Order: sequence, then C-alpha cells, then structure tokens
Amino acid sequence: MLLNLTILAGDGIGPEVTEQAVLVLQAAADAFGHQIQLQRKPIGGAALTAANDPLPADTVQACLASGAVLLGAVGNPAFDQNPGHLRPEAGLLRLRRELGAYANLRPAVFFPALEDCSPLRPEVVRGTDIMIVRELLGGAYFGQPRSISATSEPGGRVAVNTMRYSEAEIERIARVAFELAMKRRHKVLSVDKANVLECSRLWREVVTRIGKEYPGVKLGHQYVDSAAMLLVQRPTEFDVVLTENMFGDILSDQAGGVVGSLGLLASASIGGPVGLYEPVHGSAPDIAGKGIANPLGAILSGAMLLRHSFHLEAEAACVESAVSTVLSQGARTADLAGKTHSAISTEEMGRRVVEAVRASAGTVTTRTEKTA
Ligand code: IPM
Ligand code: MG
Repeated sequence: MLLNLTILAGDGIGPEVTEQAVLVLQAAADAFGHQIQLQRKPIGGAALTAANDPLPADTVQACLASGAVLLGAVGNPAFDQNPGHLRPEAGLLRLRRELGAYANLRPAVFFPALEDCSPLRPEVVRGTDIMIVRELLGGAYFGQPRSISATSEPGGRVAVNTMRYSEAEIERIARVAFELAMKRRHKVLSVDKANVLECSRLWREVVTRIGKEYPGVKLGHQYVDSAAMLLVQRPTEFDVVLTENMFGDILSDQAGGVVGSLGLLASASIGGPVGLYEPVHGSAPDIAGKGIANPLGAILSGAMLLRHSFHLEAEAACVESAVSTVLSQGARTADLAGKTHSAISTEEMGRRVVEAVRASAGTVTTRTEKTA
C-alpha cells in the first residue's frame, strides 16, 4: 500500500519527536511491504515565522490531498503577545476544523514496565486502560461570539467566550464513543457539568438518547469535577470517557500524569476526510533542541495513523508492541527515568523502537515462510 503522508513538525520538541515517529513508520512500512511518500509543511510558530500565518493555505491543501497527517506540536512563547488569530495554536485549531476532525481519541494505557513512573500506588494504577473521546470542534474553543474588548469599561476590559453545542454535534461524537466501547469493555462514562451548564444538560440528554441504541453498553454520567477525582482514585474503572472539548483537553493531560508521563500519550483526530495524528503533549519549549524529549507519544500516534487512516491493524499493533518491548527492556527518556534508570536520548529511544519493529516483523516473516 502507498502511504501518502503530510508531516507537520511544528514548534519546540515537535520536529524531534516527529522525526523519530517517521523513522518508526518507515520501519513498519518496510517490514510489511508498504511504501511511504511524505511531504513536510509548516504550521504554528514555524509557519508564523516563515509566512506570518500559523496555517498557510499551502499546508491545508497538502493535508487535504494526503492520506493522513502527522503533527508534532505547536506553541512558542515568542508569540504570546500576538492577537488570537496570529498565535501558533490558532493554526492547529483551524487545521482541525479544515479537516473536519471532530473526534479526538486519546488512549491512556498503563505500561507494566512503568510502575515506578506513576505518582499513584501500583495497585491503584495497574491495569489502567482508558480511551478518552474528546469532542474537538465545538465548545468554548470555537463558539461565537468571542472577544476581548479594547476599550476600558467600568470594571476594566471584558473578555467573552461562548460554550456552544448543537444536538447534531453531540450525537456524532456520542456515536464514536459507543462504537469504540462495543470493541472494548462496553462502558461509556459521559463527563459534563450538567448541574451548572445548559450545554451539559443538552449533552447529557442527547448522550442518553443515543445510548439507547447501544443496549450492550453501560452508560454512566459524571460531573467533570468528580470525574477528575475518580480518575486518580480509581483509574482502572474507566473504559471510554466521552466529553466535550475543554473538559477532554484537561482530563487527557491528567490521564497522562496518571499513567506516568504525558510524553507517552498519543491521539487521533478523526471524523473528516483526512485523519490528523498528534501526541497529546505540547511543544515544551523549555526542553526543545536538547534531544531529551520523549518521542513515544508521537510514535504511538503513528500507530494510530496506521490503524485509523489505513486500516493497517497488524502494522499498528506491531509498533505498539515494539514500544512495550523497549519499555520493558528498561529504555527510558528523561521524563520516565526517575532515580532508578539512566535516561536515553530522543533519538536513541526512536532507534530502539525501530529495532524492535524490525525484530518482531522478522518473526512474522519467518512464520509465514514456515507455513508457505
Ligand atoms: C491539545 C493542546 C491543544 C488544545 C492546544 C495546543 C491548542 O493542548 O491538543 O491538547 O488545547 O487542544
Ligand atoms: Mg491539551
């Protein structure tokens, strides 16, 4: 198969981690007899510097013409004083909208080899396997009106954001969550703030209605404050978490902390014609260029790309099990090393995953040869 990819390295540690993810994708493609064709385009701060636009039209066109998009990270404090539409993050938000990527899947899986990395006791975190389904194109991120007033009013300037959801938007994301739950442990926890927000009351009503189409799935509802507490108290009880844009942003970082490092978390943003894959972590300007960032979030996003955009399940599983393998062999980047392990570089972590992919794919080939 020809895998036609657009790579958006972006800012901060984005280029370092996507470089390793591309090498791993290439290794998986080689092992399974696929070809990769890729083009690189600017986004975020890198695109602001090059073209004074965080999402140049050429980048959008390239993404829409490809089979999938792999993104590193956006964000650069140098642009903190820019108006909203000229911030690096605005490029990512526009890209999500251009790609129609309304469903953001963020798995948070505990690796047994990383027991000492979680701040939680091993018996609490062991077995954690959560799929956060974050609505990605609605809520306060996109709702109109939004503004920050220029002139001083009594009480100072005023800023406005609007949390907005339509029934159709809630329905389509709810379906994604229920479909995923059918292939997992048949549980959906819908997270909202229905005791306070109208958006959440509509959310709960619509999710409950869609839930009736899935009698095999156990649906629960939880207020977001209480869900945040339960996520650290009893993470293993969560299966699929269905939630709106901003709650999902917050809870997914928290889930990263629970399983040991945000650097491990991958995501898929799907629902439109072209899928967008990116690690959950940000651009981490403080460690950019030092070669110490954890590339596993980006590498595992590559696995999700294989699975969701190309339906290459065996290839995706091969990359995921390669990551498990290197972790169980003790490979740790700085965020995971703690006091017990010495840290390896971003590049070295990537190299080990590449090797593990080659080794396990080699096993597959041998088996086929035997049966042939
Ligand atoms: C994420 C990030 C983004 C978001 C930022 C960079 C706009 O935090 O993907 O979680 O808030 O969606
Ligand atoms: Mg976030």
